[in-house]
Amino acid sequence: MSDPRQIILSGNRPTGRLHLGNFTGALENWVSLQDEFRCFFMVADWHVLTTDYEHTEQIPENTRQMVLDWIAAGLDPERSVLFVQSRVKEHAELFLLLAMLITVPRLERNPTLKEQVRDLSMEEGVSYGHLGYPVLQAADILTYRAHVVPVGEDQLPHIEITREVARKFNRLYGDVFPVPEGRLTKFARFPGLDGKRMSKSLGNTIDLADTPGEIATKMRTALTDPGRKRRSDPGRPEICLVYTYWQKFAAEQSDEIASGCRDATLGCVDCKRRVAEVMANRLAPLRERRADLERQPGAVDEIIHEGNARARAVAADTLGRVREGMHVG
Ligand code: TRP
Ligand code: SF4
Repeated sequence: MSDPRQIILSGNRPTGRLHLGNFTGALENWVSLQDEFRCFFMVADWHVLTTDYEHTEQIPENTRQMVLDWIAAGLDPERSVLFVQSRVKEHAELFLLLAMLITVPRLERNPTLKEQVRDLSMEEGVSYGHLGYPVLQAADILTYRAHVVPVGEDQLPHIEITREVARKFNRLYGDVFPVPEGRLTKFARFPGLDGKRMSKSLGNTIDLADTPGEIATKMRTALTDPGRKRRSDPGRPEICLVYTYWQKFAAEQSDEIASGCRDATLGCVDCKRRVAEVMANRLAPLRERRADLERQPGAVDEIIHEGNARARAVAADTLGRVREGMHVG
């Protein structure tokens, strides 16, 4: 092992095309981590089954679309390993073994699980697999002997469980795993077109793959200062959603926009048209990279295929150490 860099593992459930909320939260952060760390980024398709086991037909296409957006946004398949969880069976073996090292009451205390039980009104109760969600996540992380796991706040309880399981394993069977650190991605709670958190299920997104025309059309529906009824009314940029987009995408112009809004020399229609252009320009290189890849038949599948193979090589090495330490398999 000559590579001195620390290892990063993170993942997302395949949700299909990504939006600006995904980008300004996790993805932008992942892109910058590639300079410093040896990175593994995983499509967590098995984790989808914990809640959506009845609707699986979209998983393959959602996987492709998400990986396309990853690469478009700047994840580099040469430097980073982009792979699919279910194609590396070692995760399942490690999941089974780690499941012996944690109690059911410990898993029932998981706040993320409690929230899901409340939100999803699960009449049938929690499945065995869903209860074990964090153990599978621990297996994902430990398979690559990761040091750092960049995640959103809701995932920190799972990292804590991973740390406990790693320590217990090391104590019983020898030092195989670094105890990984969760690293909080600044949760840029990026607002959607209606001012609520940007989310696919709320239908208020701007997607990374949207065309300039689509962005302009969507921006027309964006929430503005509700107190500004007529064009001649002065506006309040500080409570306007469109203004937060200015601040994110063209901070250097935001003072000029704010004063134009306040003295009513700038109308909302113009303001939105202009910010739509700025956003479309910012996303242009991403859209080009995506189009480039889509033009080459089989290119994404090839990238995923290679990523899976690179992931498997590391996984096989780790599981070799695990089997030896545990004297099974
Ligand atoms: N649970 C994560 C989510 O829903 C996805 C995930 C699966 C993950 N395995 C992981 C994240 C391992 C970090 C590390 O977002
Ligand atoms: Fe918002 Fe722009 Fe209208 Fe001002 S001019 S209220 S910043 S959309």
